[in-house]
Amino acid sequence: MLPKVLVTRPLPGDALERLRREPLDLRLWEDEEPPPRPAFLASLSGVEGLLCLLTEGVDEEALAAAGSALRVVSTMAVGYDNIAVAACTRRGIPVGHTPGVLTETTADLAFALLLAAARRVVEAAEYVKAGRWRAWSPTALLGWEVHHATLGIVGLGRIGLEMAKRARGFDMRVLYHSRSRRPEAESALGLTFVPALHELLAATDFVSLHVPLTADTRHLIGAAELRAMKPTAVLINTARGPVVDQRALYAALRAGTIAAAGLDVTDPEPLPAGDPTLALPNVLVLPHIGSASLQTRAKMAAMAVDNLLAGLRGERLPHCVNPEVYR
Ligand code: DGY
Repeated sequence: MLPKVLVTRPLPGDALERLRREPLDLRLWEDEEPPPRPAFLASLSGVEGLLCLLTEGVDEEALAAAGSALRVVSTMAVGYDNIAVAACTRRGIPVGHTPGVLTETTADLAFALLLAAARRVVEAAEYVKAGRWRAWSPTALLGWEVHHATLGIVGLGRIGLEMAKRARGFDMRVLYHSRSRRPEAESALGLTFVPALHELLAATDFVSLHVPLTADTRHLIGAAELRAMKPTAVLINTARGPVVDQRALYAALRAGTIAAAGLDVTDPEPLPAGDPTLALPNVLVLPHIGSASLQTRAKMAAMAVDNLLAGLRGERLPHCVNPEVYR
């Protein structure tokens, strides 16, 4: 019998063709929208390899639905907060992800959001489309300067570091707060480490979040942190929605506690069209497109397939989240 493999969405690039050439019993969820939970659970039965996206919760329930046949979980994302990694490890299942290939692409988008939120780019384009551009105005659509402003990076991992490089090109002063200090980045890019998060928040014009979502980082930015920021500050989140307490952010944007926010990720996702956050003039929300370039998404899909096939062959995954599974 061919090994049963579930792929939870059509994939970009030639990833699916590669899988179709393999001796696999390939099951593909063909919709552009994620499988509803009951359909996902039902389709896991007897699966040996799962290639999923960040929209699928691979928790204890899903692992139980898959049963003992499951040999590898491969997510087409660098973040894996949707996967119960410890439970996979306990079952001897390696989990693959796609680090590295989306770093610069995501930093590009984070910087685009920063620029757009600061200079009110989307609002200005909508103003033109609505026929409100009658004359050059000395007072309309004034935003916040980016060049020579201070950027605070929270989480100096791969993407945070790329964000710092982009900021240097705009002559920004860059502060960072991170679990571990990076002296080599400090000297190469002129970054300043700030040990206390609140101190960084109080000192910066822009705050950009680049931490993974974990129990420690859930609601890392809440009401107290928003209050610590300058009233002219702009918050950028391209990490994970729940890193920010969305209700506290809504209240802060509404009250003018901070000036604006640019969000590529929200809590929940997708943010319903009627969510009050979307009615605020000082928030720019994108539909989680940090890694959404043609080239990067094709590379992510290829890496996810590499991880999946390695797992099915019983080989070590090239990009494994839980290498302890091999001990
Ligand atoms: C990831 O990979 O974790 C991003 O959020 C989507 O590309």
